[in-house]
Amino acid sequence: MRILAIETSCDETGVAIVEGTKIGDHEFKFEVVNAVLLSQATLHAPYGGVYPTLAKREHEKNLPIILDQALAGSKTDDIDAIAVTNGPGLEPALWTGITFAQKRADEWHKPLIPTNHMEGHLLSSLVTFEGPHGTLQGISLPILALLISGGHTEFVLVDEWFNYKMIGKTLDDAVGECFDKVARMLALPYPGGPEISKLARRARQTNAPPIVSLPRPMLHSNSCDVSFSGLKTAVLYALRDLGGVEKLSDDEKAAFAREFEDAVTEVFVAKVHRALEETAATTFVIGGGVAANTHLRESLKALVEKEFSEVDFRLPEISITGDNAIMIAIAALVRSLEGVQTVPDPMTIRAHSQLSLTEQD
Ligand code: KG4
Ligand code: ZN
Repeated sequence: MRILAIETSCDETGVAIVEGTKIGDHEFKFEVVNAVLLSQATLHAPYGGVYPTLAKREHEKNLPIILDQALAGSKTDDIDAIAVTNGPGLEPALWTGITFAQKRADEWHKPLIPTNHMEGHLLSSLVTFEGPHGTLQGISLPILALLISGGHTEFVLVDEWFNYKMIGKTLDDAVGECFDKVARMLALPYPGGPEISKLARRARQTNAPPIVSLPRPMLHSNSCDVSFSGLKTAVLYALRDLGGVEKLSDDEKAAFAREFEDAVTEVFVAKVHRALEETAATTFVIGGGVAANTHLRESLKALVEKEFSEVDFRLPEISITGDNAIMIAIAALVRSLEGVQTVPDPMTIRAHSQLSLTEQD
């Protein structure tokens, strides 16, 4: 089955064509026929975050161009269905993609598959890629997923295929949002996650002396919930006490970034430890933009190897962690090939979303 997928939930405009085949019980292989992704990050940078009306305008402008590029070499006749992200995400941005997908589905007489963005992050992160070829195979349930991005921070337990239970979440800011806001305080460009990560790595390599001590919020709390707004405020006060970011040398700024990354990582290592223990999950996966963070990936890998060696830890390809349309195609293919399809009505697709994951805040 060949799916053309469209993703416009935030500030990435993505179109992908992916071929999927069922090779076993909940086992699939995929081939990315073509994928085009355009990030608006530099346009939103002056605002320090995503500006919804600007995102909508850019999606509207770019979707037809990206669709043509994605279709190069393909015939619309060969496409079996169109998948589109129907949430969660920024409302104006989402509707641009949904309306565009609906028009193409009508014109080409193809079914439309409304697809949940979080399910896309989760299922695509389980796929092992080799170039354009991917396999989703040998997954044992229950799966524990840690989904971490600019809009979400949640622990999801999958004890049955397509059945998602949220067992922990952020009580305030998403972790990616916290990375972005702290980066802004450190006078680093948006999106801040990769910038903080780069600086922190440098501080680790040069063994820069510590400059600040930040809290590890809810580290010992009796749940899998997390909280990042206190950490953000602690950064604000610490910078003020140090005389402002402009007073910091490059090495000091790097040491600050390392301490922030350590604080976030320690919280996640503790919460993943708790979640794996509580759920007895046999597969663990991370997904979402923050899952690209090297220090977090390495720390979680070390935790699983040391304490949960029987757990199958699926670390996603970095290229699939951020928002993209390949993940939407994969979620739609997995559902379709298993015969679980949502109703393709553009006016009610949000209500038909079969997931209970949170809306983007
Ligand atoms: O999944 P994503 O592309 O979009 C949302 O659905 O939000 O995630 C974007 C977020 C941004 O907050 C960005 O700063 C963060 O992912 N991010 C990172 C890294 N790469 C991207 N955070 C920490 N370390 C990274 N290497
Ligand atoms: Zn996302």
